[in-house]
Amino acid sequence: MTPALARDIPFYPYPQSFLAQEQELVGIFRDVGRRGAFVMQEDLRQFEVNLAAFLGAWRVVGVANATDGLLIALLAAGVEPGSEVIFSSHTMVATAAAIHFAGAVPVPVECGADHLIDAEAAEAAITSRTSAIIPTHLNGRTADMEALRSVTSRHALMMVEDAAQALGSRFRGQCAGTFGASAAVSFFPAKVLGCLGDGGAVIANEERVGERAAALHDHGRDARGNVAGWGFNSRLDNLQAAILDYRLRKYDGVIERRRELARGYHAALAGLGEVVRPPAPDSDIDHFDVYQNYEIEAERRTDLRAFLKGREIGTALPWGGKAVHQWQRLGFKTDLPFTETVFERVLLLPLNLSLTDDHVSYVCDAIEAFYRLG
Ligand SMILES: Cc1ncc(COP(=O)(O)O)c(C=O)c1O
Repeated sequence: MTPALARDIPFYPYPQSFLAQEQELVGIFRDVGRRGAFVMQEDLRQFEVNLAAFLGAWRVVGVANATDGLLIALLAAGVEPGSEVIFSSHTMVATAAAIHFAGAVPVPVECGADHLIDAEAAEAAITSRTSAIIPTHLNGRTADMEALRSVTSRHALMMVEDAAQALGSRFRGQCAGTFGASAAVSFFPAKVLGCLGDGGAVIANEERVGERAAALHDHGRDARGNVAGWGFNSRLDNLQAAILDYRLRKYDGVIERRRELARGYHAALAGLGEVVRPPAPDSDIDHFDVYQNYEIEAERRTDLRAFLKGREIGTALPWGGKAVHQWQRLGFKTDLPFTETVFERVLLLPLNLSLTDDHVSYVCDAIEAFYRLG
């Protein structure tokens, strides 16, 4: 193989995700359009049922995006206004925003060496006002749910999951999003299961929570159309649901390919002491990871990033380069030294279905060249 030919590797090639399925997607558009099936139609209902079956969840409610989904998940689970909700600061600001807009107080804590919420840090942050913990299943990996469940059950806390990045990832065979009262997933185009714009879903694992989530996302209306309380308009478009349902049918293959690419990175970066890799697929029996991202820690990260850019390799800093508590305007007073060190070193390498094995070799050869050149 000669990876020297592989050039111009964007971090995420948005046009490709459309072009690779152009004919099928245009067919779906035509079909939905000709039926005039735009809002709360059969395609959406079918997708919700299929996704719930895929996850082993009680119920799925399509929503406009995962940020709304987290807010609705928190409200449906019954998180009390004024209470404190613990989350890992290594997450999208959306997790904290949902807590804030639910009327609760977001309490950021450290991530662990695997970059996911540290259960001990979460337990140490519990006060008499704590009502819930939100683990973010980051980068397509489920948090350590045994440790977290033992914390939530010891302290009688609710669990609501941020599974925006983790659709199909599992811990001991159980899918992310099905451990707590409720959860949210994202269908943002770059997500492992993405649509052609914004989209998301609430996963409800109890009947009552599902009913509340369904009402909340549709103006507070119950199944008979009666207004049962205050609500939002946060519905997943029927067209997006039709596209997602089509993509869900191919989803196992998509996950397998992402895991193959991660395996390729893991092998090719093995000899580099300057790089800390995420766990390889199947490196422990508890986790089945879907690799939403391939997140490394790297020495001289900023220089490495510039070097890769010079070789036309796109990379990204998670969340624009800061953990949630580091955005000063949000007013957090917490110091989280471990997370802050991680954020000096962390880098996302490209991982998407347009990548060939040669592309992965090309990226890894470039990383090796950077450290060899000193
Ligand atoms: C961990 C996490 N939480 C929440 C969100 C918000 O999802 P959405 O963009 O669908 O609102 C994202 C999206 O990137 C995410 O990665």
